[in-house]
Amino acid sequence: MKIRILIFVLIAIVCTSTVNAAKPASKRISEDLFGVFFEDINYAADGGLYAELVQNRSFEYSPSDRKEIKDWNSFTAWQYVTEGFAYGLVNVESDAPLNANNPHYLTLSIEDAGTSGVGVANTGFDGIAIKAGEKYDFSVFARLMSDIPLPLSVRLQSEKGEIYAQTEISARAKTWKKYTAMLSPSKTDDKARLVIIAKARGKVALDVVSLFPEKTFKNRPNGMRADLAQMICDLKPKFMRFPGGCLVHGDGLGNMYRWKDTIGPVEQRKGQRNIWRYHQSVGLGYYEYFQFCEDIKAKPVPVVPAAVSCQNSGGTWRIGGTGQRGIPMAEMRAYIQDVIDLIEYANGPATSKWGAKRAAAGHPKPFGLEYLAIGNEDKITPVFRERFKMIYDAVHAKHPEIKLIGTAGPFHSGEDFDLGWNFADQLKVPFIDEHYYETPEWFLANTARYDSYDRAKAKIYLGEYASKGNTLFNALAEASYMTGLERNGDVVTMASYAPMLANKEHTQWNPDLIYFTNTTTMPTANYFVQKMFSSNQGDIYYSDVVKFDGGGSKALTSSVVEDTASGDLILKIVNTGAVSSVARGDLSSFVGAGKKASVEVISGEPTAKNSFDEMVVQPKVSEALITGDFVYSVPAYSLSVIRVKTR
Ligand code: AHR
Repeated sequence: MKIRILIFVLIAIVCTSTVNAAKPASKRISEDLFGVFFEDINYAADGGLYAELVQNRSFEYSPSDRKEIKDWNSFTAWQYVTEGFAYGLVNVESDAPLNANNPHYLTLSIEDAGTSGVGVANTGFDGIAIKAGEKYDFSVFARLMSDIPLPLSVRLQSEKGEIYAQTEISARAKTWKKYTAMLSPSKTDDKARLVIIAKARGKVALDVVSLFPEKTFKNRPNGMRADLAQMICDLKPKFMRFPGGCLVHGDGLGNMYRWKDTIGPVEQRKGQRNIWRYHQSVGLGYYEYFQFCEDIKAKPVPVVPAAVSCQNSGGTWRIGGTGQRGIPMAEMRAYIQDVIDLIEYANGPATSKWGAKRAAAGHPKPFGLEYLAIGNEDKITPVFRERFKMIYDAVHAKHPEIKLIGTAGPFHSGEDFDLGWNFADQLKVPFIDEHYYETPEWFLANTARYDSYDRAKAKIYLGEYASKGNTLFNALAEASYMTGLERNGDVVTMASYAPMLANKEHTQWNPDLIYFTNTTTMPTANYFVQKMFSSNQGDIYYSDVVKFDGGGSKALTSSVVEDTASGDLILKIVNTGAVSSVARGDLSSFVGAGKKASVEVISGEPTAKNSFDEMVVQPKVSEALITGDFVYSVPAYSLSVIRVKTR
C-alpha cells in the first residue's frame, strides 16, 4: 500500500496547549478482544484452507454426505483412465482396509496394460491448481494384490492429457505401504489433474492418495494453503475459535464433531458427513488447528459439543427446531472424559497419555489452551441443561484454570437467549457466547448494547456476528458496533465475525469475510474493517477523547485505546453517514512534541462491494505528525484508524 506523508492535510496540527494535562478517564479492557472464528463451512477446510489438492483422497465420499443431491460415492472426483488399448477394472473394495476408520480403497486390476496402462485421474476441487516450477509432494498407500511388483506412473497433466510432470513408483509390498514422490510441473494450469497409471498386468490397492504444495503456510507438512492462511494471519487475531459453529454439534448424534477422530496419522482419522452437506476428511484436525493457532499467534478456542445435536437436525427447523437429541446418559461418562482428555492433549506433559499423542505428532511442548467453549447455539432444553451441567461441573472441577464458555442460543434476544443467560447465571459460567446476524441498521441502533450489561455477571464472547452483507455500508455498521465493543471491552472479552471463509463455488452461507477460488482470494470490505480493528487492539480504553463538531450525529462513533506494549495510542473514528465531519481531541497528555502516526482510512460509496474482478473497497495508509490538540476531517462513509506513536 502506498504510504504518503501528509502533514496538515488529513490531520491539522495545532500547537500543544496543556503539556501536562491529566489523562482522560480510562479502564483496562480485554487483551483478547478481536479474533477469528474458523468453521468448516463453505468448503473452508477441504477445498479451502487445508492445502490438500486431491478430493476424496480416501474414497470415502458417500451419497449420505449430501442432502438434496445424493450423487456422491467412492469415485467422486475420480475418473477411470485407459491409455493405449489397455483394459482392466477399477473398483472400490473394503475387505482389508488400511484402517477401520478408513474402510474403502481403490483397486486397479489390469488385464492387459496395452502400450500405456490403466489407472485413475483425480480432478481435485474443481481442478488442481499447479504452478510451473513449484514442488508438489505426492503420497499414496498401496498394497500389491498380485505377485509381481507393479509399476505405477504418477503424473500431473492437463485435462487434455498434456503431461506436466511425471515419476514412477513400484508397488512391491503385499501389505499397505506408503510411497512418496515429488512432482514439479513444467507449466502452470488451474485445472490440472493427478493421474496414476498401472503399467503392467496385475492388481493393486490404493488409498489416501495425496498431493500437497510443498509451500504450505510456514512449510508445515499436512499444512494450510499459504495465501489464505496469510490473510488470516494478517488480521493479527488474538484468538481463533474452531471448528464450528453448527459443525460441532452436528445434525444427529452420529454426526457430532469428535476431536479424537481428527488426530493422529491422517490415514487413521475418521472423516464424516459435514452438517453443511459435504464430506470432511478431517485432515485438518485438532492437531493442525492448534498448530495453526500457534503459527498465527492466536489463542486456541476449541468448541466441544454440549452432548446434544443441533435442534434443527433432520430439517426440524421447519417445525420449531425439535431435532435436538442428547447423548445417552450411559455414554456421558465417556463423553466427559473425551472433553477432559482434550485439555490433556493440548496442555498435558509429553509423558501424559494424551500429551504423548501431541508429542508424537510433532509438538512436545503444550499448546497453552486457556479457553474452552461447551456447546454452540443449543436450544436450552432439559436435555441440554442436564448434559451441559455434567460436562461443566466435571471439567471445572478437574481444570479450574480453563476458562469455560457457555452458550446463549442463536439470537441476540428471545427465549434461548434468556434461558441460556439464566442458566449461566445459575451455574456461574464465567463466559457466555452470544451470536447474531442482523441488518446494518440493527447494528447501528445497538452500538450501546453492552453499556448497560451487568459487570458482575458472566463476560461476553461475541462468537458470531455479521451485518448480512458485504457492502462498505455493512462493514462500516460493523465498525461502528466494534467501537461499542471496545468501549465495553471490560465485559466483552472476545468477538469474532462469522463465517470467515467461503469457496466461491461452494458457498452455503453468505455473507462471509474472505471469498476464494483455487488460485485467488477476495477480501471483502468487512475483512478490511476487521483487520483495521484487530491489528490495532489495545488494553486500555480512554473515554471521551474524540469530540465531533456540532455535537456529532448518530452516524459518528469513535473509540480510543492504548496498546501498553508499544505505547501506541489508537483512535478509531467511524462515519456511517453521507456528510463529512470534523473530529477534535486533546491528546496533550499522551503526545507532547510531534509524534508520527499512521492514518488508515477506508471510505467510498456505501453500496461499493469488492468482487473477484474489482477490488473497489480497500484502505489507504498515510502518515502524519500529531501533537497535543488534533483536528481531523472525517470523510463521509469511512472508518479511520489513527495510530499514534507516543514514545
Ligand atoms: O456461521 C454460520 C453458522 O451460523 C454457524 O455454524 C452457527 O453457529 C450459526 O447459526
